[in-house]
Amino acid sequence: MIEALDLTVRYRSQNEIHVALKNVSLTVPTGMICAVIGPSGCGKSTLLKVFAGIIHKYEGKVSIDGEPVTPAKQKIGFIPQNYGLLPWRNVEENIFLGLKIKNTKRKTERNALLAIMHQLGIDGLERRYPGELSGGQQQRVSLARTFLLKPDVLLMDEPFSALDAITREEMQDVFFALWQQYEVTTVLVTHYVEEALYLGQKIVILSANPGHIDAIVDNPLFGSGDIRRKPEFFKMGLELRNLIKRSWNQS
Ligand SMILES: Nc1ncnc2c1ncn2[C@@H]1O[C@H](COP(=O)(O)OP(=O)(O)O)[C@@H](O)[C@H]1O
Ligand SMILES: [Mg+2]
Repeated sequence: MIEALDLTVRYRSQNEIHVALKNVSLTVPTGMICAVIGPSGCGKSTLLKVFAGIIHKYEGKVSIDGEPVTPAKQKIGFIPQNYGLLPWRNVEENIFLGLKIKNTKRKTERNALLAIMHQLGIDGLERRYPGELSGGQQQRVSLARTFLLKPDVLLMDEPFSALDAITREEMQDVFFALWQQYEVTTVLVTHYVEEALYLGQKIVILSANPGHIDAIVDNPLFGSGDIRRKPEFFKMGLELRNLIKRSWNQS
């Protein structure tokens, strides 16, 4: 379970103080995917960085499974906006860097690596560099690295935004299959209504200035298979859009 209670985050730059998040309270139960949707600058990345233990100066309480966020103790999978791959390392090195695995353990881990690469359809790419991969392939490498870690929680910052529409849907399915297998507690930040609707069991609507939660929606369509072309999906999408429009116009 991921929990934030009255979370407020301020950035200080020179003489200015910017309140990025104000009194955000959110609970993500174990094994759930929570989609967070909000306009640019409303604090989505800030929220993920707090959950990831990257930002630790804040007010309020934040915990993972009842404990303070401690990346050294908890296994936190974090996929940043640009996949977080090092361009000067090849695919295998990138994946093992993520695992922080010592050379002695590499052999057993290598079998697990090959298995997950196969599952993700990126067999044979171990020696390639990120610059030699398509966006979808980089995304798959990033997912392979993260899921190989068997994280306690997974945090994804607009993971599919840089992909074209068809690849994006494909990657949503790839991610969803992995999530079903590992049942990892996930916070997924997105600015696509359809993505929130397809992948979010709970959908959190954030507004800006300062970043705060406007609404939390329990998504009745979650886990109904491939419903992206069905009328109820369009209908719910429209409802969610209207709700978001109202929230964002008010703030
Ligand atoms: N290191 C920082 N110093 C000062 N302000 C920041 C910093 N990082 C982000 N901000 C500001 O905080 C707000 C929230 O940023 P961010 O969490 O990146 O939003 P989002 O991911 O929703 O686009 C923005 O107004 C941004 O300009
Ligand atoms: Mg962001």
